[in-house]
Amino acid sequence: MAGLSAGQTLETALKTSRLLRPSRWPLEQALAKAAGASGVFLHLPAHRRGAGRPPSAVALPWPYDLPELPEIGGPLERDGAIADSQQQVAQGLGAERSWYGVNGASGLLQACLLAAAQRPGQLLLPRNLHRSLLHGCALAGVTPSLYSPPIDPLTGLWQPLPPEQLERLLQQVGPVSLLVLVSPTYQGLASDLPALVAIAHRYGVAVLVDEAHGGHFGFDSSLPVCALAAGADLVVHSVHKSLGGLGQSAALHAQGAAFAPAALEQSLGWLQTSSPSAVLMLSAEQAYRHHCSATGRRQLRGRLQQARALREQLLAAGIPLLMNDDPLRLLLHTGAWGCSGAEADAWLLGRGVIAECPELLSLTFCLGLGPSRGVGRQLLKALQQLRQANGGPPLPPLQPPPFPLISPLALSPKQAWAQLSEVVPLGQASGRIAAELLCPYPPGIPVVLPGERLEAERLEWLQQQQRLWAGQIPDTVRVLV
Ligand SMILES: Cc1ncc(COP(=O)(O)O)c(C=O)c1O
Repeated sequence: MAGLSAGQTLETALKTSRLLRPSRWPLEQALAKAAGASGVFLHLPAHRRGAGRPPSAVALPWPYDLPELPEIGGPLERDGAIADSQQQVAQGLGAERSWYGVNGASGLLQACLLAAAQRPGQLLLPRNLHRSLLHGCALAGVTPSLYSPPIDPLTGLWQPLPPEQLERLLQQVGPVSLLVLVSPTYQGLASDLPALVAIAHRYGVAVLVDEAHGGHFGFDSSLPVCALAAGADLVVHSVHKSLGGLGQSAALHAQGAAFAPAALEQSLGWLQTSSPSAVLMLSAEQAYRHHCSATGRRQLRGRLQQARALREQLLAAGIPLLMNDDPLRLLLHTGAWGCSGAEADAWLLGRGVIAECPELLSLTFCLGLGPSRGVGRQLLKALQQLRQANGGPPLPPLQPPPFPLISPLALSPKQAWAQLSEVVPLGQASGRIAAELLCPYPPGIPVVLPGERLEAERLEWLQQQQRLWAGQIPDTVRVLV
């Protein structure tokens, strides 16, 4: 049914449309088919299609989908069950305040930027930022400065920010309203947060840690120190990515005096729906409650042990897994077999193995919180077949992009996205201001940001990469007129 014809009512159109028959609606069908399929599911959310959901959690039924009734309230209400639940989460984690979010870590990161934009000083963001942070800058109308953590040429992956680099950075920049760190990365690489936060605080700089992928870190001593324990002022968890909540569930935790709760709540309110889903927040409560319990911590320890055993099994069979800091993320160095992460991902997907985050030279498998016993044999077989079918000489290392230690954007992303722009060949863009995000290696390294002035060295590098990785890097860029 494509639009109503003259004189037709919706009622008559619905009667005659064949497309809209009850059996033809697509989402339920597609979800039911996907949910019933067999395969090796190593993708997010971390509950692994329910296999790793908190065992004591009540099923999430329709009658629980309630509005902000007085006894329930909402994330920004003083009273009610949600306020009490958030307080319990804060207590469990050692934070001063916690708020649930129902638009993923994305929405909460953006609220933090909106709050930081009210303070004097610049925003310092990592180049390996999640795009929601750039969108947050656009919403706030601020012009951030970007710092670049090291990239490992062999794996093409962003590395943790070395504390010495942060020290040099903070010596160079003026007043900072907020420093954002990403730790761990998608691939489970964690920074030395206690050292980084201590340096930032020595310079009087408040720190937000995007710990979307590391919500579980605080719950087992074999994992890296979590952001709250490291003293970060603000910490964002993607509860669905790392703690077993339903998709979109997330939480923001705050401690210290850098941000008044009222200022954070104002920004949260600007972005929050007026009907936050009680079911999503319940799933966040269940996830935190489980992890805070002795059973949950025992279960996590068990999952970590299984994951480490699986890693050993795969390594012993010659599978090139890279080192990282989260055993629940297995990181395949596809470049060692001569194929890109994207090629490996597409090949595996066709054989029922669903992975995450295909990069130029690697692919990530998320074991999540579901049991990984039983996964090993199937995964090993699929990987051995992948090597047979696609294996070749190792891919050349990536020549890291020539990013300056710190690049202040020339314009805010908001201005860059809003102004008139044109597409020009890379060779003719020197000195121009980019109007788009260029993130050629799927999905990883943003080599050009909207609002960034393009210098000759970066454009030469892009052209060189374009020759090497034709198809992955465009030979043009959109710039402001
Ligand atoms: C580092 C990082 N931060 C934040 C996010 C956003 O998380 P969410 O999907 O919960 O909005 C992602 C999503 O991939 C991410 O990788």
